[in-house]
Order: sequence, then structure tokens, then C-alpha cells
Amino acid sequence: MAKLVAGVATSHVPAIGAAIDLGKQQEPYWQPLFTGYEPSKKWMRKNTPDVILLVYNDHATAFSLKMIPTLAIGCAAEFNPADEGWGPRPVPKVVGHPELAAHIAHSVIQDDFDLTIVNEMEVDHGLTVPLSLLFGQPMAWPCPVIPFLVNVVQYPVPSGARCFNLGRAIGKAIALYDQPIKVQVWGTGGMSHQLQGPRAGLINCAWDTSFLEELINDPKSLARKPHIEYITEAGSEAIELVMWLIARGAMSEQAPKVVHRFYHVPASNTAVGHLILKETQ
Ligand code: DHB
Ligand code: FE
Repeated sequence: MAKLVAGVATSHVPAIGAAIDLGKQQEPYWQPLFTGYEPSKKWMRKNTPDVILLVYNDHATAFSLKMIPTLAIGCAAEFNPADEGWGPRPVPKVVGHPELAAHIAHSVIQDDFDLTIVNEMEVDHGLTVPLSLLFGQPMAWPCPVIPFLVNVVQYPVPSGARCFNLGRAIGKAIALYDQPIKVQVWGTGGMSHQLQGPRAGLINCAWDTSFLEELINDPKSLARKPHIEYITEAGSEAIELVMWLIARGAMSEQAPKVVHRFYHVPASNTAVGHLILKETQ
């Protein structure tokens, strides 16, 4: 049977991707951020999973206002990078895992979560920046990746509780997959994050810190936080953090081991948060 071995959370700021692609990692502005991810890169080299289910939001790249799936899973064999603004990053194509993706879709839909099944799609910085942060600049990504999309851009967006329970259903689906593979679930986006209006650049370190604490130690309570609190406390785009609850919900109820925890301000206009949580059973 497949095993969920770890949950990973990380911001997906597009400027981080541009800094990597332009070789700016050692510049004084970026160096502390990339140093903070070094222990994770090292751990990932030793603990590369067989598949990653990567939860992210599309930023009007694959979808537009014409069509807004709340929850979608990428079932294709491969996904090419694309992006709004700066154009496609010079990163490898993403190889999918159609068989596990179809199994998860089947199981999760039977558990009453309506997923849109996507058989052809391009993937944006929400997915490629986390891969670059954790794997660097390889010729090919080291394992298949299943893109899992959540609409957190156009209201209405799903609640934290729904995301946490969806994570539960995903965890159950992975455990039921009849192949002896190791799977990681990643949640991306966040943390403090407001890109427009008079509050642009808002950072709330105390709120971010307590979100990290609760995600590790009390995710069930964290899942009850109403979406309006994310926005008023940590900015309009902080709502991306509900995606971290999907990754956390997929994990077992046993307390996880914190492999690495990192928080840094600023990157572009936002705070960056990162966690690797390992299953202990
Ligand atoms: C920015 C965009 C994002 O999608 C994000 O998650 C963080 C930052 C930006 O444009 O700065
Ligand atoms: Fe984003």
C-alpha cells in the first residue's frame, strides 16, 4: 500500500522563482531566504518521495474568469510550465502520475468532494516555485508531481474546515492505493500577503507564527478559523494558507516530527513560511 511520509508547506512567491532563474541567490536581499531552505533541500535529497501531490492555486494561468473550478486535480502524464507576467520559467516540464491521480479522484469524489478532473493544463509559479525551492535547478524534477488546484483567487473560496476535511479524504485515498510507494503532500502559498490596495505589503509576524504553531500542534482548531480572519489579520492573499490545511489534513492524527521550520520577511511583498512535517508512524 502507498504511504504518506511527509507534509510540506511553503510559500510560492513568483519573485523567488525569478531570483533562482537569474542566479541571484547570493545577493544580500535573497541570501537569507535561500539559506533558510538549505536544510530542506538536503533532507529532500535523502528523502525524495516516489510522488508528490502538490496543492496550489492557479493565478489565472490555466484558468481564467471564464471557468473557476473550486477544486481540481491534474490527471495528465505531463504539464508544461507557464506563467502570467514574467512568462514561463526555464524549468523542466512536470511529469504527472495519471494512475495515482485517477485513484485519488475516484476515492475523494466518492467521499463527496467534487473535484474537476483536468487532463490538459499548464502549471504556474504556484507549483514550480516550491519545486525549485526544495529541489534546486535539476535537468528533470526528481519525481512525478500531481497538481491539485484550489481556487483562492476569486470568491467564494473554500473554508479552512473544508480544506482540512478534504486533506483527510486525500490521506485515506493515498493509504488505499495498492502500490508500495512513498507520497508527500505539499501545501503552498501564504503567509502574510497583500498585493494590492492601501494595505499592500501588510505583514503580521505574530499571526503567521501562531498559524505555524497551530498547523503543527492543533490543526483541527486551526481549521475552524473563518476566512475573514486570514484577510483582516494577514492580508487578502493570506487566504492561500487554507491550502496548507489540505496537506496537514492528509497526515495521520499522530503528532508529526518537525524536520525543518523557517520564517522570513520579506520576499517581494510577502512573508515566507516553510515547514517539513514527517510522519512518525
Ligand atoms: C506574489 C504573488 C503570489 O502569487 C504569491 O503567492 C506571493 C507573492 C507577488 O506578486 O509578489
Ligand atoms: Fe500566490
